[in-house]
Amino acid sequence: MVHLRDKLLEVAVRVAAEAAELVESTRRSAVRDVATKSSATDPVTAGDRAAERLVRERLAELRPGEAVLGEEEGADGSGGDGVCWVVDPIDGTVNYLYGFPWYSVSVAVQLDGATVAGAVVEPSSGRQWSAALGQGATLDGVPLRASTTDRTELALLATGFGYRAERRTRQAEFVARLLGRVRDVRRTGSAALDLCMVAAGWVDGYVEHGLNRWDWAAGSLIAAEAGAVVSLPDSGELGGAIFAAAPGVADELRKVLLECGVADVL
Ligand code: IPD
Ligand code: CA
Repeated sequence: MVHLRDKLLEVAVRVAAEAAELVESTRRSAVRDVATKSSATDPVTAGDRAAERLVRERLAELRPGEAVLGEEEGADGSGGDGVCWVVDPIDGTVNYLYGFPWYSVSVAVQLDGATVAGAVVEPSSGRQWSAALGQGATLDGVPLRASTTDRTELALLATGFGYRAERRTRQAEFVARLLGRVRDVRRTGSAALDLCMVAAGWVDGYVEHGLNRWDWAAGSLIAAEAGAVVSLPDSGELGGAIFAAAPGVADELRKVLLECGVADVL
């Protein structure tokens, strides 16, 4: 089993790194070819589409017959033995569009819906975040550890906002209440990297509503393997929000989030 996870991890890192190279080397032309998705502010560029195509082609060669779920092309319906690759070809597409260098390629592999290995690669720097179940998380090969903070009122949090106006408004109201209860809140624009930031102790916690599986599949394992407490959207806790936090503040922070109305954002 460990051998299989090593192999899956190696494939995840390899294909994410190849897609990241493509995304970066073609950015100037790719961002001129843009369409919109769920709202006028939700872009998809030629870079998103080409990166997902590359990942699918490479997975078909390296892991033939395994199912793939990707943000741009959806589920391919293959597989059947419970293995599924979950791909966000660019997480942080708005940042990519603007040249704000904080976006990532996220590739995870799930077994019966739970992530067993995942990689998040930053095209602009080449940094590689990765984890395999039970084997810890690393950044460029260096082990990661969530922060050791135990003071919720001093916790630095990350969050994000969806693309639809009604949900963003509710998210902003929730964050407005939260701001007076913690040190500060960051919104950097890539959920996958927000989870990696928890893993590195660059923030103490992260909460966001309305994410899709490809946004969190790799990053949630990276955070958990670095010792963070993680609850996934499908757990039904916290109104369907994803939550990841340093172990010393996780319980208290959960209470604070509930008091601030996390369960009502939807
Ligand atoms: C988005 C980013 C962002 C988060 C949004 C996501 P995308 O993903 O992860 O940080 O706040 O909810 O949709 O559209 O760039 O792949
Ligand atoms: Ca995306």
